[in-house]
Amino acid sequence: MAERLLWSPMQIGPVTVRNRIVFSAHLTNYARDGLPSEQHAAYYEERAAGGAGLIITEEHSTHPTDWPYEKLIHGFDREVIPGYRRMTDAVHRHRVPIFAQINHNGGQASSMYSRLPVWAPSAVADPLFREVPKAVDRHEIAEIVESYALVAGHCAEGGFDGIELQCSHSSIVRGFLSPATNRRTDDYGGPSPTGRGSCWRSSPRCARRSDRSLPWACASVATSSSREAPRSRMRSRWPAWWRPPGRSTTSTPRSGLPRHRCS
Ligand SMILES: Cc1cc2nc3c(=O)[nH]c(=O)nc-3n(C[C@H](O)[C@H](O)[C@H](O)COP(=O)(O)O)c2cc1C
Repeated sequence: MAERLLWSPMQIGPVTVRNRIVFSAHLTNYARDGLPSEQHAAYYEERAAGGAGLIITEEHSTHPTDWPYEKLIHGFDREVIPGYRRMTDAVHRHRVPIFAQINHNGGQASSMYSRLPVWAPSAVADPLFREVPKAVDRHEIAEIVESYALVAGHCAEGGFDGIELQCSHSSIVRGFLSPATNRRTDDYGGPSPTGRGSCWRSSPRCARRSDRSLPWACASVATSSSREAPRSRMRSRWPAWWRPPGRSTTSTPRSGLPRHRCS
């Protein structure tokens, strides 16, 4: 019975997965200068050829303040899109869908590579990284939430079938949810999980704005984009500040993202 289930297809919103074997997200150290490399495309293609039903990529950082490991994909930089396209085309050649995991690691990070303060819900040092982070203010929270939408848009443009939001072991979303790392007394904190969950609720909602038809999917929190949706329709729903600037290769400024509220 279990074996039959393993090989049976499953529907994740508009995406059909041919079996229940999911290749889960893990860092590969294949990124080069923050961009996906040829090695990524080859690596994921090999797993798709090997029979996985769904590929989930390693995490892509949503914001310049999140650079905990040297070889991390900087999803906030528009220059990732050609690399995304290489990766998704390679996997699609085997009729396998591919989701991008997007994440901000919050306080579970280091300023060593970014030379920027580490952002977290409260100034509580992570036991592994041991750096005291900056407690984010309301504008910075809005900026993080918007950064998820920015990266979701890059992923849609790069041909991904869906997005997985990391809300688990190393994520600012987890940081907000846990009273151990969220000592805030404003409406993003406090004793109730409702306050501590505010960021958790807004980031996926904001990420989904890249395509309003995106349904929820996956084990942690994920959305799935419809590849069939005409690009022009998707673009028309993007907020003006992250509309693709024509054919220009200008990347998103690393110094920070424009401040807009997520509706
Ligand atoms: C080197 C390494 C990197 C990982 N990177 C990520 C990651 O980027 N995002 C994530 O959600 N999980 C990450 N994980 C966790 C894996 O997705 C997986 O949940 C974990 O390894 C347990 O599965 P396993 O027992 O098959 O190894 C990573 C794991 C390893 C070993």
